[in-house]
Amino acid sequence: MQENTGQDFCAQAKGPREYGKAQTPTDNAFKESNMALWGGRFSQGADSRFKQFNDSLRFDYRLAEQDIQGSMAWAKALVKVGVLTADEQGKLQQAMEVLLASVQQDPQQILSSDAEDIHSWVESQLIAAVGDLGKKLHTGRSRNDQVATDLKLWCKAQGELLLGSITALQQGLVASARANQAAVLPGYTHLQRAQPVTFAHWALAYVEMLERDYSRLQDALKRLDTSPLGCGALAGTAYAIDREALALDMGFGGATRNSLDSVSDRDHVVELMHVASLSMTHLSRFAEDLIFYNTGEAGFVELSDAVTSGSSLMPQKKNPDALELIRGKTGRVVGAQMGMLMSLKALPLAYNKDMQEDKEGLFDALDTWHDCLDMAALVLIDLKVNGERTMAAAQGGYANATELADYLVAKGIPFREAHHIVGETVVFAISVGRPLEELSIGEFQRFSPVIEFDVYPNLELEATLAKRVTKGGVAREQVEAALTAAEAWLAKRG
Ligand code: ARG
Repeated sequence: MQENTGQDFCAQAKGPREYGKAQTPTDNAFKESNMALWGGRFSQGADSRFKQFNDSLRFDYRLAEQDIQGSMAWAKALVKVGVLTADEQGKLQQAMEVLLASVQQDPQQILSSDAEDIHSWVESQLIAAVGDLGKKLHTGRSRNDQVATDLKLWCKAQGELLLGSITALQQGLVASARANQAAVLPGYTHLQRAQPVTFAHWALAYVEMLERDYSRLQDALKRLDTSPLGCGALAGTAYAIDREALALDMGFGGATRNSLDSVSDRDHVVELMHVASLSMTHLSRFAEDLIFYNTGEAGFVELSDAVTSGSSLMPQKKNPDALELIRGKTGRVVGAQMGMLMSLKALPLAYNKDMQEDKEGLFDALDTWHDCLDMAALVLIDLKVNGERTMAAAQGGYANATELADYLVAKGIPFREAHHIVGETVVFAISVGRPLEELSIGEFQRFSPVIEFDVYPNLELEATLAKRVTKGGVAREQVEAALTAAEAWLAKRG
């Protein structure tokens, strides 16, 4: 039968639904290949526009390895229940190994097929390789438990790669912190210079965020580590499959408990997208900080030529494109998560085709997150910190005003009152255009008689750092301890 085209949308095509070259029901090839998996029930061909709309091969081809891996395990399970002989399973295994090697070498080959999805593609390839035996493999299995299994296997593999990329970025941050440990940086609140910090302290803040992302990802991977295979279409399989053994054979921690839930659960898709969204939010803040530090106005850092672009018009420009793209791509990852949640909302149990919408968003979200983690690490490699500029900026902006207030408190003045005195002193200092440490004792004493010469060491930048010795503070020894600890745990992670 000829595939329907737009023009013959209403034409009554005869024969079971199948796609591909013109064939008649008497063709042998017709029985062997290209036949839709569910052709028997149908007497009319699918409209080509529907086929295009319905098919998922163009994106689920990425599940090829997992589909074959799951099929290998399923074939072994079928031997135990007497559906396949050991010899048949051996032949299937061999064919699947050849197919696996071939898709690993050239995954794009799959895209030239017009199979509906990756499950039908793998099946048709096996039938082409081993004939009728290939048709036995789907016994007791449904594409519903199959796709759920494939996707979880894919999530497990992808999750491991992402854990590696998070670690690599953390290592980049730690290395950059170590290399620029001396640099003092203005710390901001409300984008107003607040108190001095160090570049290393700033970098370690992002190590912490990424560490939470790492643990969230591990957690999500732990929760998704259950196999739905053997749940059939929705009610379980009628063959006495040992689902626990099957799960372990595929590398899962165990089997899922409820068949209805197993084929309709996409929590792991949403969870992984959430981990990606939150981590992208962290990366967007990292990007934004560096974009600002890289401005002509701040001049705190210089981005490498390797991760910036020029302007076609303005020769002086060096644009932070890598960082802007990280910031911008955060939107689409969060959007993908929202899209998935909306697709799942109010879906009746169990499987519905709506669920095919899980893949494109998940693939895109995790790919994007992966790319951005790697790009952020690349940005750090040749990042130059301009220690003189950061120091000058940290010294300006009255970032030592809190120190003056603390000094007054040490002299017995209640903090609220000290705050007020310092406020007035800062107004005066601004009016004469000088930093606090350049006011004379006489000028200080106009605001409080308790201020003496010992105020000056308190106003020095290093002194303001040195006081923050509590855990997590910016004192040099605290930052050193935090840096050493991070280096140690990341080295262990490898
Ligand atoms: N391509 C489908 C998906 O991604 C596979 C499952 C098809 N199941 C079905 N009952 N039509 O969800």
